[in-house]
Amino acid sequence: MRQVADGHVPESIDTPAVCIRLDALERNLERMAALAAGAGVRFRPHIKTHKCVWIAQRQLTHGAAGITAAKLGEAEVMAAAGIDDILLAYPLTGASKLQRLAELLRHTKVAVSADHPAVVRGLSDLGESLKRRIPLYVDVNTGLNRCGREPGEDSAALVRHLSRYPGIEVRGLMTHAGHAAGCSTVEEIRRVARHEAESLVMTQRLLRESGIDVPEISVGSSLTAAFIGEQSGVTELRAGAYVFADRGQLAHGMIAADDCAMLVAATVVSMPRPGTAIIDAGSKTFSSDPNRRLPGYGQWVDDGRVVVERLNEEHGMLRVPGDVRLNVGQRMQFIPNHCCAVSNLHDRLYGIRNGKVARVLTVDGRGRSQ
Ligand SMILES: Cc1ncc(COP(=O)(O)O)c(C=O)c1O
Repeated sequence: MRQVADGHVPESIDTPAVCIRLDALERNLERMAALAAGAGVRFRPHIKTHKCVWIAQRQLTHGAAGITAAKLGEAEVMAAAGIDDILLAYPLTGASKLQRLAELLRHTKVAVSADHPAVVRGLSDLGESLKRRIPLYVDVNTGLNRCGREPGEDSAALVRHLSRYPGIEVRGLMTHAGHAAGCSTVEEIRRVARHEAESLVMTQRLLRESGIDVPEISVGSSLTAAFIGEQSGVTELRAGAYVFADRGQLAHGMIAADDCAMLVAATVVSMPRPGTAIIDAGSKTFSSDPNRRLPGYGQWVDDGRVVVERLNEEHGMLRVPGDVRLNVGQRMQFIPNHCCAVSNLHDRLYGIRNGKVARVLTVDGRGRSQ
């Protein structure tokens, strides 16, 4: 049985809704900023998690040097709010996106990422037309098996080739160790973190030996960030989900329930069978993201044995142990599996302090997915 401060649903909120425990948010902001500062690396948090201008600004106040975004639309929202240093960590292709990038570059410091010459050709042509060299981070695969060539000679050969393009400047090597979520132990996460950093540093060394200096080494996921102080040669950290924290991080025991700033507020609407209760929050509220280590889609903040076992769009099916008493009409808060996917589904998040709504956070970048 675990109670956390601000773990109940304030009276003024109708359900389903997403609450943000503001004190926990603040602690998470401080903790990651301190980790980065302690390791002597620049912090460039990924704003995909919250898409809220206010939180991005809090991250900058806590010492972030800039932000990371994956979506051009989300970057545009942040830039319009005055955030002027953005890594667009996503390959941009096509005339429409390049035109928007050109517009963004007029007022904002933007670096982009890519891992393929066809993408870099478009970026370089844009750079040439603007009479500038667009800073580029080359994405390297360190185990997620998403974008990126392999570390070492494979990526070094790519960078040697790309550095001949006149409209870009290869500024950095980047990787995202999202596969750390699949680790079974904290020691395994530590090994992923070490591999993430060492792979990039080794590639950087190969490039230096061939006369190419790539100054930035950019890593980051909220799980591997815990070990940033153990890595050498890293210059930049891009953690994102740490701001809210979620069941994905809780599952590894690297945070406590009290660190989970995001809670999903729901009401019990039916108790049709023993051991089952139905809440008014389904996949439209929780998203359908699974957790690789834990069953279901969320857990009751007061008792982690009460799990959101199945979801339909508007219904969440709770598994309720025999010794737990719930009532129809009861309002409950749940720690969701994946905070980034949850905020993506909501126009606003309710910032809670001392049991009351202290601030309504608009998800400013919501829907800006192009
Ligand atoms: C490129 C990149 N960098 C950083 C992050 C942040 O990772 P996390 O949310 O685990 O902190 C992500 C998340 O998906 C990402 O894709």
